[in-house]
Amino acid sequence: MKTLPFDVLPFQKNILDWYHANKRYMPWREDPTPYHVWISEIMLQQTRVEAVREYYARFIQTLPDIYSLSQVEGDVLHKLWEGLGYYNRAKNLKKAAQQIITDFGGELPNTYNELITLPGIGPYTAGAIASIAFRQPVPAVDGNVMRVIARITGDDSDITENKTKQAMTNLVQQIIPVTEVHHFNQALMELGAIICLPNGEPKCSQCPMSTMCIAYHAGTQNELPVKKKKNARKIEEKTILLFVDDREHVLIQKREQKGLLHGLWEFPSLSYSVSLEECQSLFAPISASIKKIVPLPSSKHIFTHIEWKMNGYFVFLNDKKTSDIFRTSLLPTISELYLSSDTVWATKEELQKVYPIPTAFKTYRNALEETGRQVKQLNLFDGSW
Ligand code: ADE
Repeated sequence: MKTLPFDVLPFQKNILDWYHANKRYMPWREDPTPYHVWISEIMLQQTRVEAVREYYARFIQTLPDIYSLSQVEGDVLHKLWEGLGYYNRAKNLKKAAQQIITDFGGELPNTYNELITLPGIGPYTAGAIASIAFRQPVPAVDGNVMRVIARITGDDSDITENKTKQAMTNLVQQIIPVTEVHHFNQALMELGAIICLPNGEPKCSQCPMSTMCIAYHAGTQNELPVKKKKNARKIEEKTILLFVDDREHVLIQKREQKGLLHGLWEFPSLSYSVSLEECQSLFAPISASIKKIVPLPSSKHIFTHIEWKMNGYFVFLNDKKTSDIFRTSLLPTISELYLSSDTVWATKEELQKVYPIPTAFKTYRNALEETGRQVKQLNLFDGSW
């Protein structure tokens, strides 16, 4: 366990004295029954205190207890929540109320471990309810609390990482005063909400913790906490090539066994985008085998960390009965084209049943379906795709 960079007793005294003198009025604090604390914490998850007050009062008036919440009609619930946003929160409240009735005899459970099993209740909310309503000495660490802790302890770890949140939760666990758990957690939240503000606006001159705040002494309060930006998605350009032979089979290949879409089938491609002229000159060395190159629509596909921007071409083969020579001898001479060791000429039926092509290639998969007319018009082959 890390040693704390401050003395615990003055920390507790300063923040609690400040809280008792400065806390904002919140209706749920007047009568903090487990039900009231639960409803308020769910409403506060994505909404500011000022906006929640009015909704909270109306909600409690209409649905005063767990039983009434468990029975509420969908449209009544919707009306009570309208304007707060993230309606899923309300649906989870009702689901949790039903679960409380079936699994917990109609009373909110009083431990962190039981609370966290309920829909809509995550680690922060379970900690908040357990500590505020049941006075259990457990931390409730949200974004506000992480900012306070990062600044007081001068911690420049990335707060978007789970391990940072865990380390801060452990730290709060060490300093919670057993007798005033409910006030202490709310004091940390309140300090983050009205004094230790983000975006260059901390009110350090009014802060009860400034004497023991490492960031304040170092002048780094505006640099903390550190919140790494999520990496922007990497954009990869591709040119998808639909090689269609004289039997109207299309060339596909198996992707590598590792990485994106590993082991799935795809159309061969170039790892950059080319114009029609560039495509024609790329295949000029083997142009005797190619009847025509026809542009296809462009498309994009978004993965979690990568976006593919694709354009594509039909490459209709010329030669009769030479598609395997084309596949094994001619095409590999085009070094810009990545060919895997596993390539197949596939029929339309096989593409559907044997070699499913991932959705990322949907535009080109569909283009194959729609080309019968085009192929006929071009008078390329006798049949149709
Ligand atoms: N944010 C969420 N719950 C809170 C509480 N009880 N006090 C202050 N801020 C909060």
